[in-house]
Amino acid sequence: MYATSPRRRVGLADAARGRVLFGGDYNPEQWPEETWSEDVRLMREAGVNSVTLGVFSWAKIEPRPGVREFGWLDRLMDLVHANGIGVVLATPTSSPPPWLGRLHPDTLPRDADGRTEWWGGRQHFSHSSATYRRYAAAVTEDLAARYGGHPALTMWHINNEYCTYDWGDEAAGTFRRWLRDRYGTLDALNAAWGTAFWSQGYGDWQEVLPPRRAHYLNNPTQVLDFKRYTSDLLLECYAAERDIVRRHSPDIPVTTNFMPMWAGQDAWRWAEEEDVVSVDLYPDPRDPFGAQEGALVQDMTRSQARGPWMLMEQAAGAVNWRGVNHPKPRGLNRLWSLQAVARGADAVCYFQWRQSRQGAEKFHSGMVGHAGERGRAHQEIKQLGAELRRIGPAVTGRHTPAEIAILHDWNAWWAGAQDGRPSTEVDPPQVLRAWHRALWEAHLTTDFAHPEHDLTAYRLVVVPQLYLLTDTAIDRLVAYVRGGGTLVCGFLTGIADEDDRVRSGGMDERLRELFGIRTLHEWWPLDPGEYAECDGFRGTLWTEEIEALTRAEGAVAVSRYQGGELDGLPAVLNRDRAWYVSTLPEPAALRELLRGVAADAGVRPVLEGLPAQVEAVRRGDLLFVLNHGRDPVTVAVPGEYRDLLGERRVAGALELGRYGVAVLSS
Ligand code: GLA
Repeated sequence: MYATSPRRRVGLADAARGRVLFGGDYNPEQWPEETWSEDVRLMREAGVNSVTLGVFSWAKIEPRPGVREFGWLDRLMDLVHANGIGVVLATPTSSPPPWLGRLHPDTLPRDADGRTEWWGGRQHFSHSSATYRRYAAAVTEDLAARYGGHPALTMWHINNEYCTYDWGDEAAGTFRRWLRDRYGTLDALNAAWGTAFWSQGYGDWQEVLPPRRAHYLNNPTQVLDFKRYTSDLLLECYAAERDIVRRHSPDIPVTTNFMPMWAGQDAWRWAEEEDVVSVDLYPDPRDPFGAQEGALVQDMTRSQARGPWMLMEQAAGAVNWRGVNHPKPRGLNRLWSLQAVARGADAVCYFQWRQSRQGAEKFHSGMVGHAGERGRAHQEIKQLGAELRRIGPAVTGRHTPAEIAILHDWNAWWAGAQDGRPSTEVDPPQVLRAWHRALWEAHLTTDFAHPEHDLTAYRLVVVPQLYLLTDTAIDRLVAYVRGGGTLVCGFLTGIADEDDRVRSGGMDERLRELFGIRTLHEWWPLDPGEYAECDGFRGTLWTEEIEALTRAEGAVAVSRYQGGELDGLPAVLNRDRAWYVSTLPEPAALRELLRGVAADAGVRPVLEGLPAQVEAVRRGDLLFVLNHGRDPVTVAVPGEYRDLLGERRVAGALELGRYGVAVLSS
């Protein structure tokens, strides 16, 4: 189900053509046409070579049902093309015009309480609405017929950040259809959902509903299936439009933009349906772990793309959707953009080109802010554009290698983050972040993978937490270790099967055997701020009452709990090349644990002795060195290099100023 398939012949390289794509969402319909020529002048000066058009243009293209107004878009496509700028053309289907909702209220989604989501914002469409799909297909068809052969077109961008849910009546019908495909019979559904509990047995398909507001906890497998279904229904919408544009322009790659770590889309499955995998990334400039958050999303996206990927959106400065929205300090936009390139991006783009003066996002920064071309943010954009042009030929298409895979699965997240569990303090994405952070701080580059993927290429696989694991996944993990791989696994893993049924013994037997766990007696989750003393470190969040196999049987308690109910029981258990960590060690301890296991598995950082704030990543035969700190640093780099950014020679030591970056070529 999660096997990877060969990518199509067309991909990002066809759009990038040896350059890093640089540009962003361009919404010129917000501006008088006089502004357009000014825009393209500034774009050229800034080295912009790509704009995304049409993301929210449905009402402009189709002001009344069935009417088409393409004249403005014709002029725009021709204008940018005449200026050497390529177009990522979006289908406008994420924000239907008001007339669609007025004439066809069935296109509007309902929330779990039955309330309608009205027009007046955006993304007010029901993935299940046959009417919505018909209108979306029609406008996509005409757009693709008109521009599929336009010389400016480099890529198709379907919809925007698919993220909607629907609990309405038409959705109830598509949910039943999806469930029939999955289970075949109501008996099978009743068995999978465990409906014997609380008298939930279904006798007629019409009784089966999306998990609408109920008096008390919803059936967890119903909730899990609703999340799977929502991801699949949105994917159907995407695929329908993708197939239309492909019919008109088979040689143009197709993408849609993910939100990072978004719960609503199973990105492993989605990525297989795209020619280019792209993501929107907005770390908080004030977040002390902003750079790591960026690295995580970049590593995840590169792994989904299995090669170069597209940074579709980031902010030149502040966003407008946090409580307090901080601008990017001088140099940070450049640093984080080059970090993305280091980690495999062949496209560095923004929301949006020109900052709006009206509408809900007028306080969201743009590549040209309210301060205009003299503004600092725009000046920094220009500098970045020039640098990307310089390094483009040396980096694009190159691979960012990693010897470690972190496993992540949306099903495990959906099942493991519900109500009614031992501790709502355990948040799967936060646990994932903690483990990625440990490896990032140990200066180790990581891929991500799905537990059913082929893992044999990796020296080390880590599982921060996969509450739900299929039999296929468990067999893969066991075979991976038997085949010589090293596995480190965090708590609350392998608890449930794919129907969210707790496995016999409370944790899968094959995994218990792998890690040397004889009996998993009880979980002892910790309160916020509570610690568990262990030999050599403190655990947080969670502890477990484990009876291990004996040393003679091959199990070694590497660290034990000290004091309390669990005194003397294993906190970290090792058997052969399999490690089990039954708590969340404090950050430094988790880092040192993983660093040690990685070293034993033969995995080392690309540079030894790096200062804490410095990141070093290899891409192809280039070495990116990034200073995430505000203080200058000197980094030891054995050998002689040329810095492609500074055009300087580097021998033995590299000086990096505040937020400094070097791209070293030997
Ligand atoms: C998302 C959307 C954009 C814009 C930005 C603002 O990424 O795709 O249209 O709203 O957020 O950060």
